[in-house]
Parts: sequence; C-alpha cells; structure tokens
Amino acid sequence: MKGIILAGGKGTRLYPSTLAISKQLLPIYDKPMIYYPLSILMLADIREILIISTPEDIEQYKRLLGDGSQYGLKLEYEIQEKPRGLAEAFIIGENFIGEDNVCLILGDNVFYGGGITLALEEASKIQEGAMIFGYYVENPRAFGVAEINKNGDVISLEEKPQNPKSNYAVPGLYFYDNSVVSIAKSVEPSARNELEITAVNNEYLKKNKLKLIALGRGLTWLDTGTVENLNKASQFVGAIQSQHGRYVACLEEIAYNKGYITLEQLQERGELLKASDYGQYILNLYEKESERRNVR
Ligand code: G1P
Repeated sequence: MKGIILAGGKGTRLYPSTLAISKQLLPIYDKPMIYYPLSILMLADIREILIISTPEDIEQYKRLLGDGSQYGLKLEYEIQEKPRGLAEAFIIGENFIGEDNVCLILGDNVFYGGGITLALEEASKIQEGAMIFGYYVENPRAFGVAEINKNGDVISLEEKPQNPKSNYAVPGLYFYDNSVVSIAKSVEPSARNELEITAVNNEYLKKNKLKLIALGRGLTWLDTGTVENLNKASQFVGAIQSQHGRYVACLEEIAYNKGYITLEQLQERGELLKASDYGQYILNLYEKESERRNVR
C-alpha cells in the first residue's frame, strides 16, 4: 500500500498567517502540522509516500522532510497546480501509485488515540474496494457526511450538506484499491469546480464496495482549518504530551519503534534537533534504548 499526503490549498481561513507559508507547515504545538498525518501513515506501515503541494510551497516540504530516509521512508513530491479537489491527487499520483492500493490523508487532519492503530491495521488490509471512517461531530455541515444504517453500512454520502442526514463526518483519511485512479479520472467536477473525494466514494458506494469504520469516543479527530481550531489542537497536543510525558507524532520515535531506523540514526536526529524539547525527547529515547540494550 502506498500513501499520499495532500498539502495544497491556500489556507484562506487562516489569513494572514498563510499568506506566505503553507497551512500544513504551521506548527501544531511543537511540530509542523504535516508531521501528524505523516505519523498516521507510518503507523499504518506505509513507507512509500507522495507529498502533493502547490508550486509555491513544494520546495519547503522538500526542505523539511527530504527523501524521508531519516525516518526510514521513501518520500516523493508532486505539484498540484490549482486547488482542483482532493480526488485530483490520484490523477497527479498515477505513476507513483502504479499497480498498488493507496491511502490518502489530508495534510491538515490530526488523529489521536488508542483505537487508531487498530483501525489503521484493519483498513490497510483492504484488497478490494474502499474504506473510509466516520466520526460523530456536533456540526457535520463543514464535512463529507455519511448516513449509516443499524448494521453500520453506508446508505448515503453527501459533501457539506445543508441538511445533514446524520452526525457522522467523514475525516480526511481514505483507503482505496487501485481502481481509484480510473474512478478519479471519471468523476465530474462539483459546483465549486472541484473533483470531490465524496464523488469518488459515491462511485464505490454505487458498486457496493464502500466500507466505513466508525471511530469511537476514545479517539480524537481534530480539524485545524480555523484559528480557533488550530489553537485548540495545539492546546490538546500540549496537554497530552505534558500529562503522558510521551509525544504525539514524534516521527523518529515511531520510525525507531517500527524498526525503520537504527539506534544510531535516532541519535543523529536527536543531536540535530537537541536545542528544542522535541530533540531532547529523541535524545532521551536514545539514552533509554542504549541502556536497555547494554543491560541485555
Ligand atoms: C474535505 C472533504 C470532506 C472531508 C474533510 C475532512 O473538505 O471534502 O469530505 O470531510 O476534507 O477534513 P475540505 O477540507 O476540502 O473542505
């Protein structure tokens, strides 16, 4: 399974902060926003990842994340010339996807909680069809909305409906079989002239090949599109990290735990970043791990 992170758009709801910098590079608490979705792909065991951004912003993503080898990943980059919709990611990424299945995550979606790893493991096993998620929210109008029956089957899907048929928003994390490329090419642009991901999901629904995993209360999905939500997300991550003493979306920690990088690489990253608490956290992990290995 391959992964795509879509980090395009203009982030107009965060103006003036996003006049000169891509929204997904803004920090959530102590690290760039894109670290959070990237950590989710890593937790799903996806190591070949395409990052899509605007012509103006793509170089900064390359500067931040490089070829990904510091995390044991293989990162590639492509440009989305205009914000023509989420589904365009599969057309831009056609060569990258090749014959594989693919997971798309939006660069501004933050997930946290114990249940996420299980949900990711289940979703990344799909052989055929599509797997999306549902998350109960108070006001679903700003999102894709799924209507679900008693058995948990999706009955309908609507993009930003005026009168939502349920409170289940569809977060920006989607797993597809390889036919998503041809489906994305076949969907018509919406009224706002975008290739909507909801249109792609509706094609799978028509063919009876769409599954939804309802995410429970123990899991947090945060929207970061407005100033208020961005600040709430920062406070949330700060609170979790100080309470647990464990970091959310520390890419080096995940890479090391998954065996993608060596203890030496972990140390190198810690040294590079040691002026910050994030770097100190990595050095601390390194020291604990060195001790553990010596004791054995
Ligand atoms: C997009 C999707 C929407 C989804 C949301 C999740 O909305 O179109 O279906 O629920 O992401 O973040 P957008 O952020 O483009 O308004």
